[in-house]
Amino acid sequence: MGGIDQVFVQEPEQRPKPSTIEVDGIPVIDMSVSGTGGIEKLASEIGNACRKWGFFQVINHGVPLELRQRVEKVAKAFFDLPIEEKRKAKRDDLNFTGYHDEEHTKNVRDWKEVFDMLIEDPTFLPASPDPDDEEIRTYSNKWPENPPEFRETCQEYCREVEKLAFKLLELISLSLGLPANRLSDFFKHQTGMLRLNYYPPCPSPELALGVGRHRDGGALTVLAQDDVGGLQIRRQSDGEWIPIKPIPNAYIINIADALQVWSNDLYVSAEHRVVVNSEQERFSIPFFFFPSHYVKVKPLEELVNEQNPAMYKEYSWGKYYINRTGSNYKKLEAENLQIDHFKTPESE
Ligand code: OGA
Ligand code: NI
Repeated sequence: MGGIDQVFVQEPEQRPKPSTIEVDGIPVIDMSVSGTGGIEKLASEIGNACRKWGFFQVINHGVPLELRQRVEKVAKAFFDLPIEEKRKAKRDDLNFTGYHDEEHTKNVRDWKEVFDMLIEDPTFLPASPDPDDEEIRTYSNKWPENPPEFRETCQEYCREVEKLAFKLLELISLSLGLPANRLSDFFKHQTGMLRLNYYPPCPSPELALGVGRHRDGGALTVLAQDDVGGLQIRRQSDGEWIPIKPIPNAYIINIADALQVWSNDLYVSAEHRVVVNSEQERFSIPFFFFPSHYVKVKPLEELVNEQNPAMYKEYSWGKYYINRTGSNYKKLEAENLQIDHFKTPESE
């Protein structure tokens, strides 16, 4: 069908429509702050974007452009290597970091290749999703031999984007009317990762997706995309898929599931997907910011009262994460674990 393997073909209702409507995109927020009340104003712009879209772009974010360009360069050099070379750093059953080209989203294979690395090396995570199993496993990064500057460049980039992620976390706390550091302790042993995404040109872009529709499972995602475009988000008001316009050197920020839960549904973890095209390859670099494995995620008590009952029961971040990473790479009979599984009766 259309010259591509059936495993990549989306159900008809999930396939991208040929023409996407022209719309005003998600908010673009300038993070440079000046004058009195600057921080409050910035926090309030972020709060509005988190309520309405769950997505926004930031400029003047403090991550050096020169560093971002170096990471883009090593990413391209890595994905340009012969497949046998890339597979030397392949993900395996014991270590989920490294190269991978068989990810499935909602049980259809994504038209992409990825390289995953942990931000903290080592990272501590539960050994299994079983709630009674208390064993903790230690994970370390797998690195490719080539290009030689790959490891150092990626590590340097992770440190810079991490600073931005912590800054955003503070602004989001302020925007919820809470102290700036209210969420910071949840990230003392953060379990996040940086992913390099490579979307090769696809001969049948009307049938496949680079990443199928999904919500990010962590707290926050800080994404660099190149100038090709392809990321779309599902608008809350009418379910329409809205393209996110590339802005040079900007970052796309999205609220992920744990922040939706902490905010007790004030902020949304929005569904998004990636469309591919037949001419150009595309690169993107998401930084997934995840809490420590032992954090119990539940609506913040300051945001819960008689009028606003807790919408979720508490869940363990580590168990949730391990459950989901196990399922992302295989075809499953059922949908993988989502925060909806923890909805309380009051939220119905
Ligand atoms: C993801 C994702 C978007 C993109 O990797 O979770 O949504 O533009 N990526 O690559
Ligand atoms: Ni995503």
